[in-house]
Amino acid sequence: MTPTDLHTFLRTRRSIRRFKADPVPDSVIERILTTATYAPSAHHRQPWRFAIVTDLSVKTKLADAMAVEFKRDLEADALSPDDVEKKVTRSRDRIISTPVVIILSVDMTDMDSYPDRRRKKAEFIMATQSAANAGLQLLLAAHAEGLGSVWVCSPLFAQKTVQSVLDLPKSWEPQAMYFIGYPVEIPQPRERKDISLPYKYEENQS
Ligand SMILES: Cc1cc2nc3c(=O)[nH]c(=O)nc-3n(C[C@H](O)[C@H](O)[C@H](O)COP(=O)(O)O)c2cc1C
Repeated sequence: MTPTDLHTFLRTRRSIRRFKADPVPDSVIERILTTATYAPSAHHRQPWRFAIVTDLSVKTKLADAMAVEFKRDLEADALSPDDVEKKVTRSRDRIISTPVVIILSVDMTDMDSYPDRRRKKAEFIMATQSAANAGLQLLLAAHAEGLGSVWVCSPLFAQKTVQSVLDLPKSWEPQAMYFIGYPVEIPQPRERKDISLPYKYEENQS
């Protein structure tokens, strides 16, 4: 693979939100998750944890529980009952109809611990940044397999619910979920902001 090929590969990953019903072989999911663990992490502590949900009844249980929380949040935002119903149904259906749902959690167990809030917070951010690296690597690995995927942030708004429905260990804090499956279509790339910002600093020669 040439550098140009690799750039093309990285630039052609798209968030895919509609999937064929075809199942994804376990061996492919395993390969994707293994590649995800090659992401860099703070102190190399690898604070990411993954839970894989493919079973329809578990997906339905998760979707139903998350829907209750989503509905409550939307109602608090004073959306019309119609809008609430539409958004909640769409979000619930997306989970149920996706072949593979992977929940990414962060686990602080192996990270450094500090007595003060400032460093505690920095360490937690470091752990979530590390977990996010694994998340991106997972999306790229799925892309390499010809699969579609998308990062979904909703577990952040329902951490306790996700933890209890999936019976995750207490130290796992859900951060995100990834929908994975064979894509129905590949959408056009989304525009990127250009990098022509004042990002390069040089010593003043004058
Ligand atoms: C932290 C994060 C949270 C995201 N949350 C969602 C989400 O909840 N639902 C969704 O459909 N896409 C979500 N996305 C996907 C973004 O919308 C998508 O990456 C962005 O629009 C750029 O499109 P692309 O991935 O196709 O290049 C999220 C992405 C990131 C990195």
